Amino acid sequence: MSSFWSWFISIIAVASFVGCYLLIRWTSRRRQNEAGEGEVTGHTWDDNLQELNNPLPAWWLWMFYITIVFGLIYMVLYPALGRFEGVFNWSQTDQYEAEVAAAEARFAPIFAAYAKQPIPQLAGDAAAMRAGQRLFLNYCAQCHGSSATGAVGFPNLTDEDWLYGGTPEAIETSILNGRGHNPWEKMPPMAGALGGDEGVENVAHYVLSLSGAPHDAAKAAAGKAKFTAICAGCHGPDGKGSLAMGNPIMGAPNLTDAVWLHSAGPSLEAVEAAIREGREGQMPAHEVLLGKDKVHLLAAYVYSLSHNP
Ligand code: HEC
Ligand code: HEC
Repeated sequence: MSSFWSWFISIIAVASFVGCYLLIRWTSRRRQNEAGEGEVTGHTWDDNLQELNNPLPAWWLWMFYITIVFGLIYMVLYPALGRFEGVFNWSQTDQYEAEVAAAEARFAPIFAAYAKQPIPQLAGDAAAMRAGQRLFLNYCAQCHGSSATGAVGFPNLTDEDWLYGGTPEAIETSILNGRGHNPWEKMPPMAGALGGDEGVENVAHYVLSLSGAPHDAAKAAAGKAKFTAICAGCHGPDGKGSLAMGNPIMGAPNLTDAVWLHSAGPSLEAVEAAIREGREGQMPAHEVLLGKDKVHLLAAYVYSLSHNP
């Protein structure tokens, strides 16, 4: 905070206390040329409802004064005056950090004990999976959905269809390091390599044919050679994806199953768009955010979703 704003805030804060005090003094002062105490002021409503001149009750006035004193003490103890940190040196950040540290101290041993167990065993532990689910809802559900079934662009984690692998190690690596951040985990725009619109259309029909989706058989046949020459390097000669080729780091999806990552279902438009624009999904790394122990529990939770032990 610049010193201008620090002074700006401090002066307004102090001035409002002084203002409140003066206002109370002024309204409680007895004025001259007015009716004496207990007498009628001359104001009358509804024929016979009269205002008498009585002072504010003392307890009422004192409440105002006490409030002002309370406020002044508060401003000295806590940060209220611009950059002044207050005698207690309290801050929201410190309080938050202290609470986080206290929670860590309480829960870290629990996560550490889980971290010693192999993932398939942990996946069969109901209490551990309840803890894993809570972590998943906090850190993963915004992308993968609260039931982990994914959305367009975000993979379903409950099926047997994996981009990078469904072994305990592959899942744990996906969560620790993230995925899709390296150039070889991305699909570049490919229309140029296919010789423009016609090539894109033919190859797209061929892609649809791989999973038995509605397609034009003649166009698909015309696209097959280009697929083999240009797409097969990543998606495999039969289109079954990089994982089926034994490559666990590329994440090129299987195009022969009926599972679609970047569209809600088989769609010529979506496949053409994938070819023209390229595709890249990014899974953020969680090692620094969560630490290895929590990631281990999360990996077990994700593993349990498709392995029902
Ligand atoms: C910001 C969105 C986002 C968040 C948050 C996120 N993910 Fe992901 N995740 C993705 C995307 C996108 C992919 C696919 C990456 C790709 O296409 O290369 C992915 C991929 C994965 C994979 C690999 C799936 C496969 O088929 O191989 C796993 C496992 C995974 N995420 C688990 C998690 C877990 C557990 C969490 C919570 C700690 C999480 N994700 C949080 C977006 C997210
Ligand atoms: C350099 C490797 C590479 C090449 C070459 C490549 N792809 Fe891809 N493709 C990928 C990757 C990786 C993804 C997934 C991107 C992501 O989600 O992070 C993908 C995604 C797709 C998708 C989306 C699938 C879905 O489930 O939604 C389609 C369709 C596709 N590619 C078709 C093709 C076609 C057709 C070609 C050839 C013209 C091709 N790809 C060439 C790597 C490649």
